[in-house]
Amino acid sequence: MPRCVVTRRVHFNAAHRLTNPRFSDAENERVFGVCNNPNFHGHNYNLDVSVEGEIDPASGYVMDVNRLKEVVTECLVRHLDHKNLNLDVPWFQDLNPTAEHIAVVCWRVLEPAVKPARLVRIRLWETERNYVDYHGT
Ligand code: NI
Repeated sequence: MPRCVVTRRVHFNAAHRLTNPRFSDAENERVFGVCNNPNFHGHNYNLDVSVEGEIDPASGYVMDVNRLKEVVTECLVRHLDHKNLNLDVPWFQDLNPTAEHIAVVCWRVLEPAVKPARLVRIRLWETERNYVDYHGT
């Protein structure tokens, strides 16, 4: 059976502050710049979730994208959208909410939820110009 990669994009907006509690204020400012703003700042995130698998001969799908959308919404977007990542989301209680870390969290949450399709890429857009890719390694 031929195999395909299927991608669904979802959107959420959230606030965060990049900070390392082990750094001094000056180091935090130097490393994270405006992203260290004590009163947080927001992003309109786009999240591209890609799954790979065999095309089912009956449906012609690898995975129904509507089901993929529902899984991503239920497992992730519901917990992230309109939230302060540092304060409201337990996943980031002890994890600096950089785009890299958000992508890894998204992978860990989604990887078991999309089975039997195989999660192959999380692409998190933090701005229109910046994105990070995570492939689960
Ligand atoms: Ni930021």
